[in-house]
Amino acid sequence: MSYTIWFSGLSGSGKTTLSRNTFISLKSAGLKVELIDGDIVRSNFSQELSFTKRDRDINVKRIGFLSHLLNKHGVVSVVAAISPYADTRAMNRRLIDNYIEVFCDCPLDVVAARDPKGLYKRALAGEIQNFTGVSDPYEPPEAPEIHVRTDRETIAQSTDKVESYLIKHGILP
Ligand code: PPS
Ligand code: MG
Repeated sequence: MSYTIWFSGLSGSGKTTLSRNTFISLKSAGLKVELIDGDIVRSNFSQELSFTKRDRDINVKRIGFLSHLLNKHGVVSVVAAISPYADTRAMNRRLIDNYIEVFCDCPLDVVAARDPKGLYKRALAGEIQNFTGVSDPYEPPEAPEIHVRTDRETIAQSTDKVESYLIKHGILP
């Protein structure tokens, strides 16, 4: 039995960076761990999916099931996916024995100003449909195990918050 550490949040909220840092810490501690980023899943085994609720749900449930299988074999799954819908996240929480949700909280104006991929500019210009936070919903987690505020904390502080939780719960030595 193992753990799934699931980073949820808007595009540009820090999911990829923080999940990568967490992955490195777990790997350095000698744990078997896999990193699953929604962006990468979409270009590998979810190429056919769009960003409608139906397709996001399929994507998020696929990642949830994969994490469940990895956990069954003792592999920690570290996930970075927007996963905007509370009901779909709740389904994964029920499926996965040890589900740790990390809410990467950052206001829309801040992520839109960061705009690392230029997607917000295009979404605000109406060039991308169903863009999370602009023309598609993001339902914030109500009771995440870990809540990071990436507009107020440095990457190091948010990474430490996650690691402290994992140490406190005996996941990281
Ligand atoms: S979801 O909702 O969980 O299925 O999304 P996810 O698999 O994490 O994919 C998010 C990445 O896709 C890019 N992208 C979009 N995001 C949100 N809305 C729309 N319409 C969209 N189109 C493309 C974007 O690069 C996301 O990556 P991150 O790392 O979150 O910025
Ligand atoms: Mg990312």
